[in-house]
Amino acid sequence: MLLSELIDRGRIAFEAAEIESARADSELIVAFVLGISRGELQSKAIVGESLDDTNAVEALFARRAAREPLQHLTGEAYFRNLTLKVGKGVFVPRPETELLAGLAIEAASKFENPTVIDLCAGSGAVGIAVATELPNSKVYAVEKSEDAFAYALENYKRLAPDATVILGDATDAFQELNGTVQVVVSNPPYIPAAMVPIYPEVALHDPALALYSGDDGLDLIRLISKRALQLLVEGGTVALEHADMQSDAVVQLLLADGWREVVDHKDFNSRPRAVTAIK
Ligand SMILES: C[S@@+](CC[C@H](N)C(=O)[O-])C[C@H]1O[C@@H](n2cnc3c(N)ncnc32)[C@H](O)[C@@H]1O
Repeated sequence: MLLSELIDRGRIAFEAAEIESARADSELIVAFVLGISRGELQSKAIVGESLDDTNAVEALFARRAAREPLQHLTGEAYFRNLTLKVGKGVFVPRPETELLAGLAIEAASKFENPTVIDLCAGSGAVGIAVATELPNSKVYAVEKSEDAFAYALENYKRLAPDATVILGDATDAFQELNGTVQVVVSNPPYIPAAMVPIYPEVALHDPALALYSGDDGLDLIRLISKRALQLLVEGGTVALEHADMQSDAVVQLLLADGWREVVDHKDFNSRPRAVTAIK
């Protein structure tokens, strides 16, 4: 079959399944099976190349049309300049969290040899971004889910081997670092328990532990605010992601805990999605 026809077949199936990035996903799946980049695939399609055995591609098309996340099919997710291993049992890092990582990096870069802690590591995306973009930093990360921790460990070993990642609880890990940390960063679960996301990729494939946190979604953020105050030096920064509708509530809870210079930052859609504050 002509590659251009194969790509169209995927696109049509994905459009029928109401996948917004139908063409891109189709191209990325074909490119993944062929072991080439999306750009190389597009060139081959333009010059009329074909593929004899399309079974592997068709199998992945069917899984994607059933709304399995693309990243679970390819086993990879891109985050800032990283390629992270992901799959079943770990939260797929999101583009908007690149903002959070950037805020942590900016805050940490004001210190000479900063210690940075990522509470709620998932795949390791945020902490590894800090460790690789700020080589003079010492990064620690904690993750509660055993399945997610396995991915974090693999990603840290490969991409940031000098960092420390542990299986544990964000609310009490790293007691030995109390009062010594320059930046605490976290993208915790923050969806209200009753607000099941509409996208099947999220609702069915992201782990519940990564998504939900009590009736208003802020249970863990409340605890992290208090834990970050114990971990940080005076003048240290906390950086937290939250949902846009939680902006006021998160700012208020940080102010009530005694944080200063509380600033909410907008994502690329101009929605407030990450707050920073100083101890
Ligand atoms: C929204 S995901 C974010 C993962 C990663 N930081 C990212 O941005 O892609 C939240 C992560 O927090 C983990 N988690 C939930 N509760 C936790 C806790 N009490 N302590 C540590 N990790 C926790 C979940 O398993 C999940 O991996």
